[in-house]
Amino acid sequence: MISLSRKFFLSAAILACHAGFAKSDLDDRLVLASPDVIAATPALKARMESLAQSAIAEHCAGCHGADLTGRIGVPNLVDFDWNWGMTGFEMTQAEGVFEIMQTILYGVRNTNCDDDLKRYGGCPDTRYSQMPSYRDLDLTEDQLNGLVDYVLSLAGKSHDAAAVEGVANLVELCADCHAEDGSGYKPFGGPNLTDDVWLFGDSREQIFDVIARGRVESCPAWADTLSAAEIKALSVYIYNQSMGY
Ligand code: HEC
Ligand code: HEC
Repeated sequence: MISLSRKFFLSAAILACHAGFAKSDLDDRLVLASPDVIAATPALKARMESLAQSAIAEHCAGCHGADLTGRIGVPNLVDFDWNWGMTGFEMTQAEGVFEIMQTILYGVRNTNCDDDLKRYGGCPDTRYSQMPSYRDLDLTEDQLNGLVDYVLSLAGKSHDAAAVEGVANLVELCADCHAEDGSGYKPFGGPNLTDDVWLFGDSREQIFDVIARGRVESCPAWADTLSAAEIKALSVYIYNQSMGY
């Protein structure tokens, strides 16, 4: 005969077990569910938000900030301004979520893997390209200054038009990664230079420093650290925040 307290203990254990099972079942559904279905299913939405919020606090806040608005050199993840993947022309929410997911899974300029796995110096499927140092590429200080005026002109800020003319033969160098019109090229992570969102600051000195010395910022890959449900939750959560949902 089972005593009352033992009975209570057993049913509590069964309940806890059941709750555990239900949670992993929910996580399996979360991994495969469309962003629309997650939005329409309260249990999935709540699980997505709680997984994302704890992963952000533990793994992303240190660099991107607790509210993910970033700082110099680390992008804001909750504005609708993406350097990688997302163009704004995605036909479905799932496409946008997958672009963000690729960045989270494999990182930006992740080099933390075996050398024989690397392609062009980066780990498999990491977002890769690099803002060159044009001083190392032997441009003169005058040319570097002229390129600053070119960038200021793209952004519609006050600039020296004669100096922009002076580098007309050089600006083709920038088109591969920032596009002919300076609006950016997502496959290479070249930021849009025509808007008012600046990863490294908008003063003459800050822009000069980027062009003269180049940049190689990186975001870790999370494929080996986080679970599939956490990665999916982060991708959907960040996508939603950036869209203002
Ligand atoms: C060590 C600092 C660091 C940590 C930790 C970090 N990031 Fe990043 N992240 C960066 C930097 C720097 C960039 C900009 C890379 C570049 O130059 O494009 C970036 C870029 C990104 C981008 C691409 C943004 C765009 O405009 O396309 C996403 C998405 C992202 N991070 C998500 C995350 C998530 C999610 C986490 C936590 C799981 C995280 N990051 C943790 C430093 C970090
Ligand atoms: C091979 C690709 C590539 C080329 C070529 C290139 N850039 Fe870049 N540029 C980038 C990337 C990538 C970043 C972002 C760097 C990072 O996050 O580490 C960047 C960043 C910048 C920034 C900073 C933007 C911000 O939001 O703060 C400026 C300014 C800039 N580039 C100007 C230029 C100019 C001018 C040229 C041509 C002379 C040029 N770039 C050529 C890839 C490139």
